[in-house]
Amino acid sequence: MAKSIDVSDLNIYYGDFLAVEGVNMTIKARSVTAFIGPSGCGKSTFLRSLNRMHEAIPGARVEGKVMVDGQSLYEPSIDPVAVRRQIGMVFQRPNPFPTMSIYENVLAGKRLNAKRMSKSDADALVERSLRGANLWTEVKDRLNKPGMSLSGGQQQRLCIARAIAVEPQVLLMDEPCSALDPISTAAIEDLIAELKSDYTIVIVTHNMQQAARVSDDTGFFNLKATGEPGHLVEFNPTNKMFTNPDEESTEAYISGRFG
Ligand SMILES: Nc1ncnc2c1ncn2[C@@H]1O[C@H](COP(=O)(O)OP(=O)(O)O)[C@@H](O)[C@H]1O
Ligand SMILES: [Mg+2]
Repeated sequence: MAKSIDVSDLNIYYGDFLAVEGVNMTIKARSVTAFIGPSGCGKSTFLRSLNRMHEAIPGARVEGKVMVDGQSLYEPSIDPVAVRRQIGMVFQRPNPFPTMSIYENVLAGKRLNAKRMSKSDADALVERSLRGANLWTEVKDRLNKPGMSLSGGQQQRLCIARAIAVEPQVLLMDEPCSALDPISTAAIEDLIAELKSDYTIVIVTHNMQQAARVSDDTGFFNLKATGEPGHLVEFNPTNKMFTNPDEESTEAYISGRFG
């Protein structure tokens, strides 16, 4: 199910503003790829270009190529809605639908996409998705309680359950732990390690220890100055990035010496 992603010469614009310039990278299937870099260097923008969410912003566009298992994502014949189904997204703040139960939250994405489902199919999908998100045992006796009644960390796992319920091939996560306490963060990190046997996972994190713990490959983005486009400085196996990076600026960023 998992897919590899090949990005070539990608430029990403907001209107006339070139936010990210000239990205080339290969994201491996069934692995975790982390993006690090200072605020404003285009990590979120780049992530959103990988499932065609970027263009939802008026005036936003890309140049270059994104290939998902050999299929070009930006061909005119490709339906962006279908792309977003295959390449799911988890956001910085857990965002369960406030009026929906835990059960309905898990099914929300599926209900948008699918025709009617039998009660037993829906039950099975809810259980499978919640198990997949390591949340089942904590919520199985209160599936009809509001999604908002859960703790922040549980809400984020609920959002992950909702994302995997539509059976995507890739999961994009934009700082999924930045609003969570350390225990919930550890639960999400454990979950990411499990999910990578089925999914291609791309995670933006401002926490370098987290990148080092969870990822197989790491990309370091930076920008020369405010107003300049962000660019990919270095992309390498995480081990190498954190012990012996190719670029001096990677070393400086990782060791806390900016510049
Ligand atoms: N919706 C938007 N409209 C215009 N510019 C944006 C928008 N979102 C982000 N940007 C700009 O794009 C650049 C990259 O931002 P972003 O991708 O959010 O960086 P990061 O996630 O690394 O902090 C910044 O200069 C930011 O101001
Ligand atoms: Mg961001």
